[in-house]
Amino acid sequence: RQKRFTPADITALKGKRPIVSLTAYTTPIARLLDPHCDLLLVGDSLGMVLYGLDSTVSVTMEMMIAHGQAVLRGVSQACVIMDMPFGSYQESKEQAFRNAARIMKETGCDGIKLEGGTEMAETVAFLTERGVPVLGHVGLMPQQVNTSGGYRSKGHSEAEATKIRHDAKAIGDAGAFALVIEGTVEPLARAISGELACPTIGIGASPACDGQILVSDDMLGLFNQFKPRFVKHYAELAGTISQAAEDYAREVRERSFPGPEHTFQPRKT
Ligand code: KIV
Ligand code: NA
Repeated sequence: RQKRFTPADITALKGKRPIVSLTAYTTPIARLLDPHCDLLLVGDSLGMVLYGLDSTVSVTMEMMIAHGQAVLRGVSQACVIMDMPFGSYQESKEQAFRNAARIMKETGCDGIKLEGGTEMAETVAFLTERGVPVLGHVGLMPQQVNTSGGYRSKGHSEAEATKIRHDAKAIGDAGAFALVIEGTVEPLARAISGELACPTIGIGASPACDGQILVSDDMLGLFNQFKPRFVKHYAELAGTISQAAEDYAREVRERSFPGPEHTFQPRKT
């Protein structure tokens, strides 16, 4: 495949086959993930997994754009979507458009993601009608951690499930090309996926979604500060890296690294 998947290609996968997506933040990781994914997300989760922040709230436009540029250098076929960071779109639909356009121009990504339900529907319509493909994000919304009372799964009560269904419907109707559902109970994710014309991409939202996404550092076992229930480790890179550092340290101390094969000698003339 020569051209990258477009947001419209992602929409068209609904009902055909599951959508495969992961996050990416750097060129080398994007290169490795790209051949296997329909969509790569430059998530604001980078604040936590790369920068050691304890939420995504302090992630900036500059951080996102730098990593978006890095990811685009490594991608040849996946659709690349970038998270809009907290504070870059909630104020008004005009602010959202200005920052979305800046992200698209400066990185070359295919669209943006923003968190929110009915309160963001007008903004989603404003952006899509003006050429910005929008990936929605409902359910557990990490940018709202300070008002929602932490990172708890959603939709356990009838009232909460109904609100999230309305949120999802509003974002779908506003023209989102797909919708991330994060941290919700299975019946709710199934209901939303059945109700919406656009595909749903779940994270901690059951197999009932039209696709799945994970934070790559989580699924690679690289970020191991904690492991939520919905994460599966497909590799244990943290252990691999610790072992490599331990081996290197020992060899340096023993003077067995560098060896003759790593050492320059004067050229024979
Ligand atoms: O920032 C992120 O990585 C995300 C995904 C988990 C959906 O928003
Ligand atoms: Na995010």
